[in-house]
Amino acid sequence: MNTTLRDKIDWVGYVDWTIRDFHGYTAERGTTYNAYLIRDEKTALIDTVKAPYGQHLLQNISAMTPLHSIDYVVCNHAEPDHAGALSQVMAAMPKAILICDQKCKNALSRHFDTSGWKFQIVKTGDTVSLGDRTLHFIETPMVHWPESMFTYVPEEKLLFSMDAFGQHYASSQRFDDKVPLETLLQEARSYYANIIMPYGKQTAKVLQQMDVLDVEMIAPSHGLILRHHIREMLEAYMDWASFRPKPKVLVIYDTMWGSTGEMAHAILEGASLPGVETKLIYVRGSDHSKIATESLDAAAIAFGSSTLNAGMMPMAAAVLTYLKGLRPLNKAGFAFGSYGWGRGGPEAVDEYMKAMKWEILRDPLKAQFRPTDEILDECRQAGRLLAEKAMELAC
Ligand code: FEO
Repeated sequence: MNTTLRDKIDWVGYVDWTIRDFHGYTAERGTTYNAYLIRDEKTALIDTVKAPYGQHLLQNISAMTPLHSIDYVVCNHAEPDHAGALSQVMAAMPKAILICDQKCKNALSRHFDTSGWKFQIVKTGDTVSLGDRTLHFIETPMVHWPESMFTYVPEEKLLFSMDAFGQHYASSQRFDDKVPLETLLQEARSYYANIIMPYGKQTAKVLQQMDVLDVEMIAPSHGLILRHHIREMLEAYMDWASFRPKPKVLVIYDTMWGSTGEMAHAILEGASLPGVETKLIYVRGSDHSKIATESLDAAAIAFGSSTLNAGMMPMAAAVLTYLKGLRPLNKAGFAFGSYGWGRGGPEAVDEYMKAMKWEILRDPLKAQFRPTDEILDECRQAGRLLAEKAMELAC
């Protein structure tokens, strides 16, 4: 069902209730692909949906205006969850001019046969008048892809923010004040950690650009539209984009026969100081998307793996590979783990931590076969060091 944002500005997207694997990100609450229709003297569609839901989008638009009357289609982002239905859309809207930046056009030309499409290439500062309303374009490279941009409608104080401020959150509601704020921010945090985190610097720049915009409503490409909690969302984004750490310690591990698990518990015990939040995460019982989300604001992380075939346990390697891609910054930590006849597990973890440019607090903490009482004491001391560092970084 379409939802009205402003007079003759409507949500016409698709709610994907059942998706759980969003290109590897676990979307526990599903997601939405938000598209918006602005009807003025000229009519514009802002973004589309994933290809399988193109006909739903066209039906939603048809319920409001004839498809052949659409003047503009704005593509803020070429990723297929938003641009996937473009070939269906452009075929159904013969008059439409596709507005995007040059990089977006280049990407779309690799995805589709665009030879019959009419393009209008825009850059930051360009505008298109629809009549009473104007589309202002702001390029936002790397939030989330190099070709990404925002579209701002100053007359309505309305920002179409594409992936930024989105959430993978399927709901029968469209607006932020219709769901609990805690859930909204929890989903936004998870989304930021798993999608936007590698681009903190670029996100901070976009937040600065937003300072000069008068915004009363933010309509992202996923999840709820913000009209009541813009301030809370912007404040959260400022924290996340600057990797502002909390006094929070994670002890993440995989274990083969329990030795690395024993070490993990001892490290956690040592890290349990007043004022420090601690979490023990066993990678085989935890989802990698949740681990990434927990890592976003953790100041210190101990990561452990037993040694298997002179390297890490496979799930430990998978989580570290995923984390390395997301580039969480401003962390301190150390590696730990057990080994048997051959070494390699904790050393491989240490290499990943160094590659992520974390502050390494000590050499890998290791135990052969079983941790002795002395080694468990060393684990407790190392845990304490981790907690003290977390408090220092969070100051
Ligand atoms: Fe929701 Fe980067 O696409």
